Amino acid sequence: MSDRYLQLDKLTLAYGDTVAVKGLDLAIAKGELVALLGPSGCGKTTTMRSIAGLLGPVSGRITLDGDDITRVSANKRNVGLVFQSYALFPHLTVYENVAFGLRLKGIGGKDLDAKVSAGIRSVDLAKFVDRKPAELSGGQQQRVALARSMVMEPKVLLLDEPLSNLDARLRLEMRAELQRVQKETGVTMIFVTHDQIEALALADRIVVMVNGGIEQIGTPEEIYNKPVSAFVADFVGFENVFALENGKLATSNSVVALSGPAPQAAKGLAWRPRMVTLGSGPFQGTVRGTSFAGDTREYLLDTPLGAIKAEVDAELPAHTIGATLAFDLPLAAAAPLSRYR
Ligand SMILES: Nc1ncnc2c1ncn2[C@@H]1O[C@H](COP(=O)(O)OP(=O)(O)O)[C@@H](O)[C@H]1O
Ligand SMILES: [Mg+2]
Repeated sequence: MSDRYLQLDKLTLAYGDTVAVKGLDLAIAKGELVALLGPSGCGKTTTMRSIAGLLGPVSGRITLDGDDITRVSANKRNVGLVFQSYALFPHLTVYENVAFGLRLKGIGGKDLDAKVSAGIRSVDLAKFVDRKPAELSGGQQQRVALARSMVMEPKVLLLDEPLSNLDARLRLEMRAELQRVQKETGVTMIFVTHDQIEALALADRIVVMVNGGIEQIGTPEEIYNKPVSAFVADFVGFENVFALENGKLATSNSVVALSGPAPQAAKGLAWRPRMVTLGSGPFQGTVRGTSFAGDTREYLLDTPLGAIKAEVDAELPAHTIGATLAFDLPLAAAAPLSRYR
C-alpha cells in the first residue's frame, strides 16, 4: 500500500475541449520526492492542480493514503501547494502568514504558537518572524511559503516550479533546503520543474512528461544514462540522437552504416557530446563552430550524418573552423533507445 500512497489512475484532464493530460497512470510511495520534468505546456501544472483538487478530472481516479479523493474538495484533501509566485499575504507578518491556515483549522493558543515557531525555525527564519513579505528576499519569501504549507502537515506537498523566480545561487540554496526539509519530515513531495539539472539533483524518482502523457519514469541515474526515447535523450543532454533503420543510422538525408551491430531491438541510438571520439574514427566532419566551455571545448561538425556535437578536453590542441576531422560514434558508449518517436 505505502508504495502506492498517492495513486493516479488513467487520469484525463481538460480545460473545456482542450485535453491537457491523457490517461495518466502514476503511483508514488510515502516519503518519496518525485519530480515532474518536462517542457512548458506538457501538463505538469494541470496534473498538480488535479492532485490539489483545484481541477476535477474528465475521467480517472486519484487515491491518497487509501482514500479515493477524486471528488473530495481541495480544502479537505490535506494536500499542500507551493507555487512559483509565493502568494503570501502582504499585510501579514511572517508569523501570521505561517499561522494563517492553522487558525482557519481552529488551532490557537500554545498549540498554534508551538507549530508556527517550529515551522519558522525549520526554514531558518526565526530572526524574521515580525517582518512583512516585502521586507524579505525572494528566497526568504519562498521559505515562508514552504513553512506555511509544512505546518499544515500535508499528506503530500506539491511544489510547482518553486525555484524558478530565484537567481542561480539562491536556487542552489533552496534546493538543498527543500531536500533537507523533506528528509527531516519525511513528507511526500511532488516537485515540478522544466530544469533537468534540478530534477536530477533533487528527486528520488523523475517522471518525464511530454504532450500530456508520461514518457519515462525512473531514478535520476536511469533518466540520465538510459533514456528510453529520442525525446528524453534530447531533453537530458544527448545532443546526437539518431533513428536506427535495419541496423544503420538514419538521418533525414542519408543512411550510414555503423562500425558494428547495433543493440538488438533498439529503435535509435544517442550519444552525449563528450561520448564522441574526435581525431580518429571512420567518419569525417568539418568544423563549423567551436566554443570554449572552461574544462572542455565544444565542436559543431558538419558531417554526412548531419550536425554532430562533440566535447573534448580543453587542454587538447584546438581545431579551427573549416578543419576536416575524423570522428567516431563509439557503439559501446551509445544509449540504445527503445522508441525513436
Ligand atoms: N486555464 C487554461 N485554459 C485552457 N488551457 C489551459 C489552461 N491552463 C493550461 N492550459 C493548457 O493545458 C496544457 C498544459 O498546461 P500546463 O499544465 O500549464 O503545462 P506545464 O505546467 O507543463 O507548462 C497546455 O497546452 C496549456 O496551454
Ligand atoms: Mg506549469
